Amino acid sequence: MSQQDSLQHSLARHTQALKDKITEKIAQTGDISFAEYMNICLYQPGLGYYSSGMHKFGKEGDFITSPELGDLFARTFAMQFQQILSQLVKPVILELGAGTGQFCFDCLTELDNLNSLPEKYYILEISADLKERQKQKINSLPDSIRQRVEWISQPLQEKYEGIIFANEVIDALAVEVFKYSNNQYLQMRVDYEENFKTKWSEFPQGLLKQLKAKELNLPENYVSEFVPNLSAWLQSITQNLQKGVVLFVDYGYERDAYYHSQRNQGTLVCHHRHKSNFEYFENIGLQDITSFVDFTAVAEAADDCGLDVEGYTTQACFLMSLGIQNLLGDSDDNYSKYYEKTTELKKLTLPSEMGEKFKVIGLSRNFNQEFSGFAMMNLLHLL
Ligand SMILES: C[S@@+](CC[C@H](N)C(=O)[O-])C[C@H]1O[C@@H](n2cnc3c(N)ncnc32)[C@H](O)[C@@H]1O
Repeated sequence: MSQQDSLQHSLARHTQALKDKITEKIAQTGDISFAEYMNICLYQPGLGYYSSGMHKFGKEGDFITSPELGDLFARTFAMQFQQILSQLVKPVILELGAGTGQFCFDCLTELDNLNSLPEKYYILEISADLKERQKQKINSLPDSIRQRVEWISQPLQEKYEGIIFANEVIDALAVEVFKYSNNQYLQMRVDYEENFKTKWSEFPQGLLKQLKAKELNLPENYVSEFVPNLSAWLQSITQNLQKGVVLFVDYGYERDAYYHSQRNQGTLVCHHRHKSNFEYFENIGLQDITSFVDFTAVAEAADDCGLDVEGYTTQACFLMSLGIQNLLGDSDDNYSKYYEKTTELKKLTLPSEMGEKFKVIGLSRNFNQEFSGFAMMNLLHLL
């Protein structure tokens, strides 16, 4: 068997094992919600897309995130972090879903250069595979920095001051898919008969309440999605943050744009080898399933958790406000490096790349300073 055949064989076995888990679950409980299906596809220990050894990030994987493009994104965030950390007592940073650990690596390196290291840098990561990769990356940091990094398996239990940060984590939370038909909301469920298939059922009361609270005005047969229990998730993460800031970066829109009548098939999408598709019953466990973020929902969840919403802007404006353009180096010193950095800057900031599709939302608790990242353009009024 050639190497290629053997790889295909092992991927097929992997998919089959995960399919078996899902069909077993359906056999036990009857059909499952799409959120349950998505959770298993992404996070089933050892088999889910994020939990297994798939490449995922970078050229060899399925998608590329801002910290994986180079160090500009993390170094710019470090400048924002420095300003915030300087206002806090014994501050810590908590990063959710740290991917390969690249953001942590570059951010701490920059904070060290700025003489502004936090007391601790905690990483809360639900994927055992990624936790391992993060550890390998962080191990190459100098001891004085590395010792500050600690992995935790649940949100911090003691009170603290600090920063909570997540890039592209909310888009990876499982979503409920709904259809609006005959003046009511129907929940998409996943069943199995020879193949996976979907069906529409009545929503359980709790979820229906969350959906109705959005007060959407939708045309007939409109299909979209939402993250269930977002407030509870945010509450669990921020409950012991006494003073400080939460920064989430992700692709998404404010609610009016998210549930626009023309976006009538929602934003759910799969990523496989740098191509998008809508076949969430294909490549099970081998491809990412994700949806855009409703930033109004994040702001509402913040409100429920007693957090203030300080700012909302595009990734481009956030990074430019902090002076990302000043990190390019000098073209006379090393032209090829300068060219590489300019390309990275363009990817992060151009509207046709990640500049406008990605947004940054800033939340705070007992923290009264303005954030420099929102100085150029704060779009809070859109939420
Ligand atoms: C799209 S990746 C982004 C990774 C990284 N932040 C980056 O920008 O490269 C999503 C990450 O979130 C993690 N994740 C998903 N749900 C999570 C949760 N509830 N708590 C913590 N991490 C989570 C995944 O395991 C993965 O590391």
